[in-house]
Amino acid sequence: MIKYIPHLLVVLLAGCSDSTGIPDYKRADLSVEKRVSDLLARMTIEEKAGQLNQLAGDLNTGPASGNADWQHKLQSIKNGEVGSMLNVVGAGKTKQVQQAALDSRLGIPLLFGYDVMHGYKTIFPIPLAEACSWDLVQIEKNATVAANETSAAGVHWTFGPMCDIGNDPRWGRVMEGAGEDPWLGAQIAASRVKGLQGNLDSNHILACVKHYAGYGAVEGGKEYAYTDMSRTELWNKYLPPYKAAVEAGAATVMNGFNTFEGTPVTGNKYLLDEVLKNKWNFKGFVVSDWNSIGEMVNWGYATDNKDAALKALTAGSMMDMETKALVAHIPELVKEGKVSMQLIDDAVGRILYYKFKLGLFDHPFAYSDEQREAATLLNEKHRKEALEAAKRSIILLQNENNALPLNNNTKKIALVGLFAQDKKHLFDFWVAQGDFNEAVSLQEGLQSVFANTAISYSQGYEADRAISNQTLIADAVNKARAADVVIVNIGLSGEIAGEARSLSDVSIPQNQIALLKELKKTGKKIIAVVSSGRPMILSEITGLCDAIVYTWILGTESGNAIAQVLSGKYNPSAKTVMSFPLAAGQIPVYYNHFRTGRPATANSNEVWVSRYRDISNEPLYPFGFGLSYTTFSYSNLELSDSALQRENTLRVKVTVTNTGSFDGEEVVQLYINDVTSSILRPVKELKGFKKVFLEKGESKVMEFILTNEELSFYDGAGNKVLEEGWFEVFAGGNSRDVLTTRFRLK
Ligand code: NOJ
Repeated sequence: MIKYIPHLLVVLLAGCSDSTGIPDYKRADLSVEKRVSDLLARMTIEEKAGQLNQLAGDLNTGPASGNADWQHKLQSIKNGEVGSMLNVVGAGKTKQVQQAALDSRLGIPLLFGYDVMHGYKTIFPIPLAEACSWDLVQIEKNATVAANETSAAGVHWTFGPMCDIGNDPRWGRVMEGAGEDPWLGAQIAASRVKGLQGNLDSNHILACVKHYAGYGAVEGGKEYAYTDMSRTELWNKYLPPYKAAVEAGAATVMNGFNTFEGTPVTGNKYLLDEVLKNKWNFKGFVVSDWNSIGEMVNWGYATDNKDAALKALTAGSMMDMETKALVAHIPELVKEGKVSMQLIDDAVGRILYYKFKLGLFDHPFAYSDEQREAATLLNEKHRKEALEAAKRSIILLQNENNALPLNNNTKKIALVGLFAQDKKHLFDFWVAQGDFNEAVSLQEGLQSVFANTAISYSQGYEADRAISNQTLIADAVNKARAADVVIVNIGLSGEIAGEARSLSDVSIPQNQIALLKELKKTGKKIIAVVSSGRPMILSEITGLCDAIVYTWILGTESGNAIAQVLSGKYNPSAKTVMSFPLAAGQIPVYYNHFRTGRPATANSNEVWVSRYRDISNEPLYPFGFGLSYTTFSYSNLELSDSALQRENTLRVKVTVTNTGSFDGEEVVQLYINDVTSSILRPVKELKGFKKVFLEKGESKVMEFILTNEELSFYDGAGNKVLEEGWFEVFAGGNSRDVLTTRFRLK
C-alpha cells in the first residue's frame, strides 16, 4: 500500500544533501517520500507543469494534435516541459528519448505509457472474450505476460484495464471491457490489475483504470457521446469495477470522454475529488484521456484551454494527455491565485512518487534492455498462454444434433470465409505491437489439427457487407458439395472492433446471409464460426447452420484455438458476459434489468404489460450462456437456513452433474434478487461463480457463501445499505435457466 501523503511534502525543505553534495532526491538510500519532497522543493512552477504534460510519440491514438517533429519534442523534454510520453515503444527508442529527460536541469525521467489492451506482441483474446472464460487465474496470467513483454520494451505503464460496464453492442469499445455485469466486472478488473502490476518490479507495469466513469453508457452506443445516470445507478452498476481495480492497487486512473450530471467527467468534481480521492482514498494519479481536457471546450463547458485546465485541475484531473493546456497555463493560473501550489504539488508529487517507486531515478534504463526485449517478445511460453486463453474464450452457442465436435475421420472439410484466411481481419485496433502476420489463421489451425483431412478453401463473401458476390458464393457452394462438412467463418473483421468503431447495425451482414442460404441448400452439415468484437444479432443464422461457435477476436493463436474446439481436443467452457440481442430493437438488452409495474406474462396476447408487441423481451442468448460438448444438470439447491440474521452468513449448496458423454468444465453461477427494497434492485444479480471440471457421470456439490456484502446495495451517497426482507437465490449454468429458492433476512 502506498504510504505517500502528498500534502505533508510541501512543508519539507529541499536542499539537504549528504557530505558528497548529492541532492537528497538522487539518493537511493532515502525513502521515496523524502526524495519526492526534496525534488518538489527544487522545482520551478514551469517544471512542475511539465511533469503534468504527456505527449504522444510516433503514433496517434486520437486526432492528430499538431505535435512537432522529434527534434522539437526532444528539446521540450530537455527543457523539462514533458513528464510522460505515450506511444513511444521499444528498448532502443525509449532509451534515446529517456536520455533527453536525463539531460534536463533536474534529470527527472519520463514515464512511458502505451495501450496494451490484450497483449503487447503476443496478442491474447480481446478483453471481452477473455472475460467469457470466467477464469480469473488465466486472466491474471494473460495480464502478466502482457506486462512482461511491455516492460521489456521500455514501457512502464499501460492504459488498462478498461473497466466500463458495456451492454450496448453498437459501441465498438465493449470489446475492451468485461461485459454487462458489475460484480463479475469487479473481479476481472482486480485480476487484471494484479497481473499487470505484480509487485511493481521491472517485469511489470503500472495499470490505469479507465474510463472513469460511466463511459459504457454512451447514448445510442455512439462513441464520444453524452452519458448521464442517477447516482444509485452509478454506484451500483458502473462504479464497482473501477472501485475494485483501485482497491487492487491500480496506480493510475484515466478520465473518460463522457459526461456525468451535466459535466464532462474530466472536469467532474464529484467523481474525481469526492469519490475517487476522498471516499476511495486513491493515492495514485489521474491522467486525462487524449485531449479530453481540451474537448471540454467543444462540450460547451469551458471557454478556452485555460478555462479547461482550471476546471480539470480543480476537479481532480492531474496529467494532461495531448491537450498541452496544463503545461501552457498552470504558471499563470497559480500566479493569478486560481489554482493553489498545494494542488499542483499534490498532483506532481503523485507522479514523481511512481517514478521513484519504479526505480527510474536510480536505473532509468532498467526497462530498456534490447537483449531482454528480444528474448521476451512473442516467445514460445507466451504463445502457449495465448493459446490456452483463446481456447477458454470460445463460446459454443448452438450444437444441433451434436454437430460438433467434428469426427476424427472427417475426410473432406470445405472451409469458407474471407476471415478464415486473410489475416488482417484477425486483429482489432488495440493490438499494440502485435503483427497479424504472426497470427495463426483458421485455415492454418485446421490444417495442423486435421492433418489427414482434405481441406478446400473458398472466400465466400466480400469484406464490404454491401456487395453480394455471386461468383464467390457459387465457388463456395461447389466446394461445399464436395465436402462432408462446411465450416464457414462469418461475422465482422477485427478492424471494426475498438475505439471510434460504433456501428448502427450489428446483424450478420446480408452478403454472408446470402452465402449461408446457398450453403444450406447443399444439405451438408454447416458449422458457423462467428468472429466479432461484439455480440451480434444471430437470429437470422440459427436456422441456417447446425452449430454456432462464437470466437470473438482471439489474437495470435486464433486458428489453433478454434481448430482445437472444432475437433473436440478442447471442450468449450466459455459463457457469454454480454446478452446476445434477438433483434436490434431490444438494444440495450441485459439480464440485470429492473422489474416493471406491469410485468409481461407467459401469455403473449396480453396487452397492458411491458413488452414488445412484435418480439419477445428475452435475448437470443442470455448472460452467462454457453454450451459444452457434454451436458450438466443442476439439482438440490439448498440454503443453510431459511432465515438469516444480520452479520451472519448463509451457505448455498447446489449439486452439479455431468450428464453427457464428455468430460468438461462448467461455470456454476449464483444469482440473488432483493425482492423488496427502498431503492429498486435488478431482477437478478450475479453474486458468485465457480468453474468446475467434471468427468462424465461425475457430480459435485458446489458451495457458495452469501455475506452482508453480497446482500447489500449502494444508496445514492455511495454507502452500503442492507435491508431486511425476502431474497431469492438462483443457481444454474446461465442467468436464465436456474433453480430457485428464497430466504428472509431479519
Ligand atoms: C483514447 C482512448 O479512449 C484511451 O482508451 C486510450 O488509452 C488513449 N486514447 C491513448 O491511446
